Amino acid sequence: MNHISDRRTFAIISHPDAGKTTLTEKLLLFGGAIHLAGEVKARGAARRARSDWMKIEQQRGISVTSSVMTFERQGVTFNLLDTPGHEDFSEDTYRTLTAVDSAVMVIDVAKGIESQTRKLFEVCRLRNVPIITFVNKVDREGREVFAILDEVAELLQLEVTPMTWPMGTGSDFEGVFDLATNRLMLPEGPSREFQGKVIQTTGVDDPQLDAIISARNLTKVREEVELAQVGYPEFDAEAYRRGDLTPVYFGSALKEFGVDSLIEALASFAPPPRAQPAEPAPVEPTRDEVTGFVFKVQANMDPNHRDRIAFMRLCSGTFKRGMKLTPTGHGKPIAIHSPILFFAQQRELADEAYPGDIIGIPNHGTLRVGDTLSERATVRFTGLPNFAPEILRRVALKDPTKTKQLRKALDDMAEEGVTQVFYPEIGSNWIIGVVGQLQLEVLLSRLDAEYKVAAGLEMAPFETARWVSADDPADLKAFTDLNRSAMAKDRDGNPVFLAKSAWEVGYIADRYAKVTFAATRER
Ligand code: G4P
Repeated sequence: MNHISDRRTFAIISHPDAGKTTLTEKLLLFGGAIHLAGEVKARGAARRARSDWMKIEQQRGISVTSSVMTFERQGVTFNLLDTPGHEDFSEDTYRTLTAVDSAVMVIDVAKGIESQTRKLFEVCRLRNVPIITFVNKVDREGREVFAILDEVAELLQLEVTPMTWPMGTGSDFEGVFDLATNRLMLPEGPSREFQGKVIQTTGVDDPQLDAIISARNLTKVREEVELAQVGYPEFDAEAYRRGDLTPVYFGSALKEFGVDSLIEALASFAPPPRAQPAEPAPVEPTRDEVTGFVFKVQANMDPNHRDRIAFMRLCSGTFKRGMKLTPTGHGKPIAIHSPILFFAQQRELADEAYPGDIIGIPNHGTLRVGDTLSERATVRFTGLPNFAPEILRRVALKDPTKTKQLRKALDDMAEEGVTQVFYPEIGSNWIIGVVGQLQLEVLLSRLDAEYKVAAGLEMAPFETARWVSADDPADLKAFTDLNRSAMAKDRDGNPVFLAKSAWEVGYIADRYAKVTFAATRER
């Protein structure tokens, strides 16, 4: 068996409420990883109840932490990386998207492309991550099929190819027609709830459909499909893999329609592990050396062990338990004795893993987001971004004897990628930066629960931050000398310019043409 070609590492991107959780459940159900739909939620609830700081998740009913779920179907191993659905927590999501080879975009048939979907799509585009579109909730009243297809094409500037077609929507919903295989998927049973019956036809014009589908739906669908075949390009796997075309599937995650076709599409078309951007050269999955990068660090997954789990995407080589890997740039080789593979939220000890797999590595803070791990320390993966914070706050300590603990907590959380921390050149008011409001709540809650530090947040006189650099160190020095009161260092000691407004960034950037002001910093 070829372990590389039969792996699919992917994520689901969507706007909250489009149906990502439901689809995840159904994918795991169809993949045999769980036995009852609903277990993802149920298990999630049990896990949340056990963990203190995750109270926020409970209160808000959202998932702040990402996890990894692995399932197999017909010899293909799927690694589904969950991305937090809440708008505020996008930094984490962005990083997770650096660890996948493809994505499924879930859209609500009544709402079309929503803001969060669009943002996440842009990240996928930056990295040429190919996308399969799943238009969900066709069992509900929604927009016309053409309206949805055209919106995807126009807003996202993508070619679209409809792969399935709903036979009516809402109360008229009668099933889904697969245009590639000419199979009609029908609801069955007394409540006509779930996909039960599959009928092989010769096409939408097949006369046997007249006896099965209402005349009203059938006439409409026949006309539409004819138009669609002329109006949209045929599916082109190469264009999809380049990220220029998205195949579109219609279905209902809740009623289990179209989920099978989606899994088949992932197995047939989605790319297996790809070469990953790295220095000095991209790393091919076929390389012998074991290499990978940490895209996420999560604390307190198990309250009984105050450990952290670094999530590493394996990029090349066959990983074996007990292997020694060296974090590039800092430190000695570490022996990985208890790697974890994630199996529908349950931890399992991994003996072997292959490119595209995600391994959880327990550690006590040695591993950081963005770290490369490899056998011979010859490469460094690039492209894991830090985003310029959109909200800056001063941290006010309520008990001044806790300065040391506070610094440790802020450093730890910066390492995990929860928040960013900036230490101003002048003064002792440390500043934290986040992309979304929710990160602030996570920070305060964890300071209190984990570090026993009572702190508050105050408005900072700055609104945004830029990493500064220059080809000639003298140019950078000239700039920092003159703007010392706005200069700070990030967790890694890189110089950062704190600006009062986006306008000021533009103004200063114009005045110091030889200095580069970066809104993201690759780790
Ligand atoms: P999310 O993770 O993207 O936020 O969405 P989630 O799966 O939680 O789905 C949001 C709501 O949409 C849920 O209803 C869910 O049952 C419903 N839903 C998901 N897929 C479909 C579908 O194909 N058809 C229909 N009709 N509904 C769908 P809820 O009432 O908010 O939650 P719940 O009480 O059902 O859990």
